[in-house]
Parts: sequence; C-alpha cells; structure tokens
Amino acid sequence: DEALIAISKRPKAELHLHFEGAAPPSFIRGLAKEKNVDLSGIFREDGSYDYRDFVHFLSVYEAATSVLKTPEDFARLCTAVLEQSAANGVVYSETFLSPDFCGGGDVGAWREYLAAIREAADHAERTMGVTLRGIVTCIRHFGPEQAKSAALCAAETADDWLVGFGMAGDENKGKQRDFAYSFDMAREAGLKLTSHAGEWRGPQEVREAVDDLRVDRIGHGVRSIGDLAVVDMLAEKQVTLEVCPGSNVFLGVYGSLAEHPIDQLRKRGVKVTVSTDDPPFFHTTMEKEYGDLARCFNWDASVFDDLTRNAIDAAFCDDQTRETIA
Ligand code: HPA
Ligand code: ZN
Repeated sequence: DEALIAISKRPKAELHLHFEGAAPPSFIRGLAKEKNVDLSGIFREDGSYDYRDFVHFLSVYEAATSVLKTPEDFARLCTAVLEQSAANGVVYSETFLSPDFCGGGDVGAWREYLAAIREAADHAERTMGVTLRGIVTCIRHFGPEQAKSAALCAAETADDWLVGFGMAGDENKGKQRDFAYSFDMAREAGLKLTSHAGEWRGPQEVREAVDDLRVDRIGHGVRSIGDLAVVDMLAEKQVTLEVCPGSNVFLGVYGSLAEHPIDQLRKRGVKVTVSTDDPPFFHTTMEKEYGDLARCFNWDASVFDDLTRNAIDAAFCDDQTRETIA
C-alpha cells in the first residue's frame, strides 16, 4: 500500500556493497561479448547469475569479474552500479573494491584503476546525486599474504575518497587474526575497518573480528544473536552491523525474513544498518529491502530514520561529507 511505497522510496545510505557483485548481468554479458569470453556457464536461461550455494557463488562472482580487465571497464561498471543506486534512492554508498581484481595487488596499477573509478563516481555524484566512497577489501580465501598486498594498496591510496579497509570472501577459511598485520597497516594509514564475520560462522567469529582486528564495523554479524554476551558487547562498543537481510535469506543463512534476527539485534541496542551485498546475485535492491522489512516487521518510518542515522553515523567518510548527506 501507500505507506509501504513511501518507506521504500525514502533516501537511503548503504554501507555494504561489493563493487563487482553489483554488476548487472547484462553489463557483464556485454563485456564478455566485446572481449570474446565465453561466460555462458554462469548465467541461467532467464539471464540471471547461476550458482548453487555460497562457495559456488564466490567462484561465479570471480568468473564474472574476469571480464573486467581495464581501468575503463571498472569506470563503466561504476556508472552502471551508481545508476542502480540512484534509481533506488541511495544518496550515499560505500563499496568494496579489491586490488586483487584491479591490477593484481600492484600499487602502481591499482592507482590507475582507482583514479578511473573515482572519476566515474565524481561524475555520477554531479549528475545523479549519489555520493560514493571506497573500502579496499582483501579476500579471505586468497590468504594472508595476498591480503598484505591489498592492505599496502589501501595504505598507499588512503584519502578522503578511499576511506576504509575490510575483508570479504569465504568466512570458513582461516581466522580473523591471520589478517591482523594487514588490518594494523590499514589502521595506521588512517583507514576505518570492517570485516565479514558472523554470516556463516557463529558469535565467536564476531568477537574475534572485534578483538583481533579492532574493526569499527562488522559485515553481516547477524549470527552474534547466538550469544547474547556478544550482542551486548556490540551494543556497548557501538560496533555497527552492516546487515544484508535479502542476501542472508537468498543464501539460506535464514529460512525466511521473519526468522532473521535484525529486529532482535536492533531492539537489544545494536546499531544496525541495511544493505544489499551483491544485489543482482541475490535478486534484491535497496527499495526491495526496505519494502520487505517494513512489511515483515511492521516497521514504521521512525525505524527507518534510525537505520539511516546509524548508517550516516558509522559511515567511513569525513565529517564534512557526513554533514552533506545527513
Ligand atoms: N560475502 C562474502 N564475500 C563476498 C561477497 C559476499 O557477499 N561478495 C563478494 N565477496
Ligand atoms: Zn558482503
């Protein structure tokens, strides 16, 4: 009804968006055709991405990413991604960028990719009214050594646009603390920190991200609900969760949105925010997330005000930018 539509159309801030994971399938198919790469194996007949489970998702993701080769390809991707964000009423977004896919961890090459992405983002800000900031992510299943190259790229390019460092990838590989060297390097360069934790593994993983990597935010973190001491620790330390409800339901972390703990976490005082993760892979958009949450949990506008306030407060941008989006 009209109240739901009004909620889904509100201005939004999104903190958890994988850059390549936001690529529309048609965009990736177009690049594959231009470059004569056969990617037919990763699409369903209806044109959507095709994968069986989370680990297979990661490999389909990497296959899709393989057609993104030049800085210009990434600039075009940036425009395509921000068109989707703007169409969903997103006014501020932070996106995960991986030097592993942009020059293979070489700092010089990374600078060129970053410059191209940033130029496209600046243009989108002027023409579409959506502000983007970057978070360099290392990839957990590529291991701690490769993460150091990503952290070095991040530390060398930290500025008012490249504002954070994080970790994505397969949570079941290795430990948070294996990446402490990289997170320390990024922190010393002035970057804010976030790590995927508590999407697949339990509350202890979330505690380790906070204790061993000293992150400012957690990617997902939803499974901290299994230990209320961890939930209370997050509330007390004001560690913000980048919650991606549609992603969690699509990948089967929860059987349905009604079973998702976002409302319990919020009611127990945890700062929660809402993001899409990899929107075309999980058949979601920010408008859909908002509409689904409003319907499922009977949230009114004041709850969405809180979510947006939490996202703006926990954004990694400088305070001047924070004021312009507030
Ligand atoms: N989770 C973890 N790693 C990822 C994801 C995700 O949703 N997308 C790309 N890398
Ligand atoms: Zn993610």
